[in-house]
Amino acid sequence: MTTSRIAGFYNLPLGERLDKLAESAGLSSDELAAFQTSGLSADQADHMVENAVGTFGLPLGIGLNFVVNGREVLVPMAIEEPSVVAGASFMAKLARAGGGFTVITSAPEMIGQMQVLEVKDLMAASMELHEHKAELLAEADSIDPVLKKFGGGARDLEIRIIEDSPIGPFLVVHLIYDVRDAMGANAVNTACEKLAPHIEQITGGRVHLRILSNLADRRLAKASCTVLLKELAFTNADGRTFTGEQVRDGIIEAWAFAAADPYRAATHNKGIMNGVDAVVIATGNDWRAIEAGAHAYAARDGRYTSLSTWGKDADGNLTGELEVPMAVGIVGGATKVHPAAKAALKLMGVKTAAELAGIIVSVGLAQNLAALRALATEGIQRGHMSLHARQVAIAAGATGDQIEKIAAQMVAEKMVRIDRAEEILKSYK
Ligand code: MEV
Repeated sequence: MTTSRIAGFYNLPLGERLDKLAESAGLSSDELAAFQTSGLSADQADHMVENAVGTFGLPLGIGLNFVVNGREVLVPMAIEEPSVVAGASFMAKLARAGGGFTVITSAPEMIGQMQVLEVKDLMAASMELHEHKAELLAEADSIDPVLKKFGGGARDLEIRIIEDSPIGPFLVVHLIYDVRDAMGANAVNTACEKLAPHIEQITGGRVHLRILSNLADRRLAKASCTVLLKELAFTNADGRTFTGEQVRDGIIEAWAFAAADPYRAATHNKGIMNGVDAVVIATGNDWRAIEAGAHAYAARDGRYTSLSTWGKDADGNLTGELEVPMAVGIVGGATKVHPAAKAALKLMGVKTAAELAGIIVSVGLAQNLAALRALATEGIQRGHMSLHARQVAIAAGATGDQIEKIAAQMVAEKMVRIDRAEEILKSYK
């Protein structure tokens, strides 16, 4: 990929956008076709879920302008909400002037939980487990030879005592498992189920639940960016001018609201997840797992707060940071079955799950910036309206050129409503 900046991409007809992707990322005609049809046949769907009757499509857009750890990347985003792809692409453009996004990821370690009940002496059992730790880890390590071959496997065992629960105290064993490029649920769940009898033997208790934790707080991805002050200044369509300082301070004030208040933090983080989920879905990953992990992580200190942080550097530029658990894989599951997901991974040219995690968290940060910039300046509705108007026009029955025409008229009239769209459409007949 030479550049993720494709000038005028937005204005190209859909077919020519696909040609650009073929040119930039070397996608084959089959891969491009997968993007258009969602790629998944009813027959494939039938092998993926029970009672299948078909597939369900979502728009797939391309996030432009992203530079992540110095690498240009075109980002596939599957999402039904207008403005998200445009917002992320625009903010990636602002961020690239300051070097783009810098990402660090921790080791791909997942946590498997075993709930041990009916233990007579919790302290004594936990000491016993510590004593047998090496043996238990060796056993867990030998469970998945494929993972082992790629450098993954059991890393640690943590023993916790839950003092207070509705059924009284009990023991919890965490198996820390490096899952390399997999999402890891299958590997971890299998390891926990296999290890359970040995844990029962050591503790004298009964292992009840054996399941992965979605609070993947050992598998974190952190993106940061610097947006130069001059990139923040703008004049809107009404001729209102915002200075770089005004926009920067407005964004920091907006973030402070989310940092301090869970009602705002939920919406702020939802905006982040608009970007995160879109890429997670496009790559066939489990977005419920990512959502669960993100929100649990946002409440890790006992109070739900913002997942991102915004501030300024010594030169007055805006700085942003986002850290989220990121349990995504590039092997196994739908990532390798779904044709559009496979093409999406190829488009980004990712070689490891960590690289994918880094791109996702960068898109989340870009998306957060887009929302805060709009909210802190002219408000969110203006940007939303023109795209929303198209959906309203389609819902009213507009097709082809009518969609843009009706949408533009409704925006100009500041009346984006289905009854108005129907009226305009009728006037064409
Ligand atoms: C809408 O999908 C997302 C926003 O509400 C996020 C935010 O308020 O930060 C715009």
